[in-house]
Amino acid sequence: MESVISVKNVWLRYGSRHDWILREINLAVYEGEWVTIVGGNGSGKSTLVRLFNGLLKPSLGDVTVYGKTTSDVRNLMTIRQHVGMVFQNADNQIVGVTVQEDTIFGLYNIGVAQEQAEHRCRDVLQRLGLYEIKDHPPHLLSGGEKQKLAIAGVLAMEPKVIVFDECTSMLDSKSAKEVHKIMSDLHNCGFTIIQVTNEIEEIFTADRLVVMRKGTIRFDGTPREAVDNPAVFKDSALPPLFSVRIHNLLYASRNLHLPTAIERELADPLWKFV
Ligand SMILES: Nc1ncnc2c1ncn2[C@@H]1O[C@H](COP(=O)(O)OP(=O)(O)O)[C@@H](O)[C@H]1O
Ligand SMILES: [Mg+2]
Repeated sequence: MESVISVKNVWLRYGSRHDWILREINLAVYEGEWVTIVGGNGSGKSTLVRLFNGLLKPSLGDVTVYGKTTSDVRNLMTIRQHVGMVFQNADNQIVGVTVQEDTIFGLYNIGVAQEQAEHRCRDVLQRLGLYEIKDHPPHLLSGGEKQKLAIAGVLAMEPKVIVFDECTSMLDSKSAKEVHKIMSDLHNCGFTIIQVTNEIEEIFTADRLVVMRKGTIRFDGTPREAVDNPAVFKDSALPPLFSVRIHNLLYASRNLHLPTAIERELADPLWKFV
């Protein structure tokens, strides 16, 4: 299968006098996948995903997007149209004075004609439930609405891959769920989703999980393989999954050994002990 994003033997440091931030990274992301990246603070997640659209360049090694290297500036415009990014702080991404203007801004920037730009803009605002507030000034929106607006701006560019870098971590839980639902809907529509999160309970929506530790990829596999293998999360500074805590607690306190720590599969074996 052809990879959408391919990272080969990548090392990165922010200046030659600094330490290596990414070491020997190899990763391929395939069309239509949902890849979730977790890891402790400072483990290099944001640095890694900023390589995916050429915001950062590797110090050594190569990153290609649809076969084009991010190290050649002539490829960057196409690459950035293919790979959209939504960041933690939506305020930094807002440029327009109304919701509609903000969404359409990027389209005019890449030379999309007015009529087509307005059409695309209306589509994405409707899709995200923002059309009713299209004339509102963005600074008056709630945190969740601002993050949806950031997603609207990205979607209007008609990308194939969308990277969400901890984009729910500043939201209240209701808005975070809404944004997570948007990610699911987009994945179901065929978008390739790359999600960085510090919410360990969110890993099960991914097709593939990447666990980072100190600038290296510690694990790359399915969420299920990760949960079945306790070594994956060891020393990763991540809180244990709720289901893993239950699993371990019952083993320690009652010597009950449950067959799995996958949450949705725990109910049946637990009932037997009630
Ligand atoms: N612009 C920068 N200049 C120097 N060091 C940086 C820069 N950005 C990030 N770092 C360092 O790189 C490491 C990884 O950061 P980051 O990729 O943001 O991690 P994460 O997203 O996993 O929290 C951290 O030690 C951080 O301090
Ligand atoms: Mg980060």
